[in-house]
Amino acid sequence: MPTHTAPEILFLQQEDVVLAGATDMAKALREVEQALTMTGRGDVIQPAKTVLEFPDPESGQRRYLAVSMPAHLGEPVHRTGIKWAAESLDNVQRGDLPYGIDLIILHDLQRACPVAIMDGTIITAVRTGAAAGVAARHLARPDSRTAAFIGAGVIGRTALEAIALALPGLQELRLFDLNRAKAEALAAEFAGRWPVNVVQSVEAAVTGADVIATMTTTRTPFIQAGWLKPGCFVAAIGKNEFEAQALLDADRLVVDNWEQFKHYPAAMLTRLYQEGKIADRDITNLPDILVGRVPGRQSPEERIHFLSFGLACEDLIIAERVYRQAVALDLGQKLSLWKKPLWM
Ligand SMILES: NC(=O)c1ccc[n+]([C@@H]2O[C@H](COP(=O)([O-])OP(=O)(O)OC[C@H]3O[C@@H](n4cnc5c(N)ncnc54)[C@H](O)[C@@H]3O)[C@@H](O)[C@H]2O)c1
Repeated sequence: MPTHTAPEILFLQQEDVVLAGATDMAKALREVEQALTMTGRGDVIQPAKTVLEFPDPESGQRRYLAVSMPAHLGEPVHRTGIKWAAESLDNVQRGDLPYGIDLIILHDLQRACPVAIMDGTIITAVRTGAAAGVAARHLARPDSRTAAFIGAGVIGRTALEAIALALPGLQELRLFDLNRAKAEALAAEFAGRWPVNVVQSVEAAVTGADVIATMTTTRTPFIQAGWLKPGCFVAAIGKNEFEAQALLDADRLVVDNWEQFKHYPAAMLTRLYQEGKIADRDITNLPDILVGRVPGRQSPEERIHFLSFGLACEDLIIAERVYRQAVALDLGQKLSLWKKPLWM
C-alpha cells in the first residue's frame, strides 16, 4: 500500500510574481510569440473562454465580467493551467482597485496536482501588451516612425513598452488619455527610455500615426475612420474605441483567435459580424501568419487592424517562467491541499 502524499502548492502574491521577473517585457515578447506560434502549429489545447457578463441595468452596457480561461501548452513548455479573470467598472469609478484582477493556477497533469497559484494581474497586463508588440513587429510597416497610444492605464503602460521594444525605429510616441494627469505620469515613467509626448486630443494623437494602439475602458467608439492614415497598423486592445467604419474600411482584420473572438458580443467587431457586415473570410488569425500559413503585410499601403481577444496560452507561458524562477529564488508561500487525504 503506497503512503499518501500531500500536494504542495506554491502561492505567489503579486510582489513575488514581480520579483520573479513577470514585468520583463523583452522576455514576454519572445514568450507570447512562442505561444502564438505553438497555437499556429497545433501545439496548444485552448477551449473557448467561459464568459460571465453582467450589464449595467440602466445603460445595458457591460459593468462586470468574470472569465475562465483554461489551456494546455505542449512541448517544450508542457504545462496545463487556467486563468480566472475579472473586470469591474466600479473599480475604475472608485479608483481603489485595478479594473482587471486575475488569478492563475498551474497544474501538474500527470499527478493531477496544482503546483502554483499566483496573482495573474501583472502577467495579464504584460502578455496583453506583448501580444500587441508581436502583432506590431509582424504587421506594422518596418519604416513606422510615429505611434499613438490611447489610454494610459494598466494596459497602456505595457502596450507602450511592448510596441516601443518591438519597433525600435519609432521616433515619436504620442500618448492621450481623458485623464491627462495619468498620461503625464506614464510619460514621466518612460522618460529616459523613450520620449513620450502627451497630446491634447485623440485626433491629434491618431492623425498621421503609423501605429495606433488603444487601451481604454470605453463602451462608446470615438476614433473616426477618416483619421487613419493609409498603411497604418492598429492594435485595438480595448474592444470599442473605433467606429464601425474604421473596421469596415480596414484592408486586413487580424485577430489572435477568431473562433474564440467571434462568440463574444461586447465588441464592435463581433457586432459587425453578427449583423453580417463582416464575414469569417474577412478575418486572419495571427498564429497563421506567424507559422507562414497566411502572408503578413503585403503592401506599404495596406491598413491592418489587429484586435486582441486575449489567450490563456499567453498567460500560462509567462506564468511558467515566473513559477520556475520563483522556485529558484525560494519566493512565495508553500500551501498544502491537505495533511492526509480523507478519501482515496
Ligand atoms: N485584449 C486583451 O487581451 C485585453 C486584456 C486585458 C485588458 N483589456 C482591455 O484593455 C482596456 C484597458 O484596461 P486597463 O486595465 O488598462 O484599464 P485602466 O482603467 O487601467 O485604464 C484605462 C484608461 O483609459 C482611459 N480612458 C477611458 N475612456 C477613455 C476615452 N474615451 N478616451 C481616452 N482615454 C480613456 C482611462 O482614463 C484610463 O486611464 C480594457 O478595455 C480592457 O478590457 C484587453
